[in-house]
Amino acid sequence: MRIRMKGIYKYWEGEFGKIRVLENVNLDIADKEFIAIMGPSGTGKSTFLHLLGCIDKPNFGEIYLDNTDICTIPENIREEIRLEHIGFIFQNYYLIPTLSVLENVMLPMQLANSFVGKQEERAMKMLELVGMEAKWNSDTAKLSGGQRQRVSTARALVNNPGLLLADEPTGNLDSKSTREVMDMLKIVNRQQGVTTVMVTHDSKVAAYADKVYYLDEGRISTANI
Ligand SMILES: Nc1ncnc2c1ncn2[C@@H]1O[C@H](COP(=O)(O)OP(=O)(O)OP(=O)(O)O)[C@@H](O)[C@H]1O
Ligand SMILES: [Mg+2]
Repeated sequence: MRIRMKGIYKYWEGEFGKIRVLENVNLDIADKEFIAIMGPSGTGKSTFLHLLGCIDKPNFGEIYLDNTDICTIPENIREEIRLEHIGFIFQNYYLIPTLSVLENVMLPMQLANSFVGKQEERAMKMLELVGMEAKWNSDTAKLSGGQRQRVSTARALVNNPGLLLADEPTGNLDSKSTREVMDMLKIVNRQQGVTTVMVTHDSKVAAYADKVYYLDEGRISTANI
């Protein structure tokens, strides 16, 4: 999926006036590209991902996912795009503890009504991709952090999204699990050709990306790390 952001402004109305988060952000991300975004805490990195993921809207500007401006289309179409074409990975995994590994991975297909009749087969294939097939029936509470992040990656990819958004995917991992998860994300980006936008505080993690950007004081710039 190709992404173009044009003149994006985002602010919140705070108790003491406007909090300006993004000010005239312009960015093009090529199809299949893997980019990283770094920047100080509170600078708007998660907000940036939420705008791309149809979770939140900018106050001004245009965001094209391929040729669709996701800022002007109705909410039900945004939801459809979110479910069918975008995968999310979060720092805290957000796996559902009452569901097994396999059931967690099946969930996005049930929500999007995709792969009907083949959902188990598809979920197992994704678990193989992330090297977690042996744990398909495990309780998610019994997995390590790295294993949970692999499962949440399988879940993010199950609907075959064009765009993968990862918000500090290694934020809770030790250095060995960090390498494993990043090697896996790199392979997934290359093999599946999924455009990947990742936020991280760790420059070693950012180095896995094709390009690194720095977000600060509302502006985005290319970073040299
Ligand atoms: N729903 C909201 N209402 C009001 N202000 C918000 C809301 N969400 C975020 N903000 C503010 O927007 C700014 C950017 O927040 P954001 O979560 O995007 O930062 P971040 O760069 O992801 O930070 P971190 O590195 O700590 O995760 C912060 O000042 C935050 O307080
Ligand atoms: Mg954040």
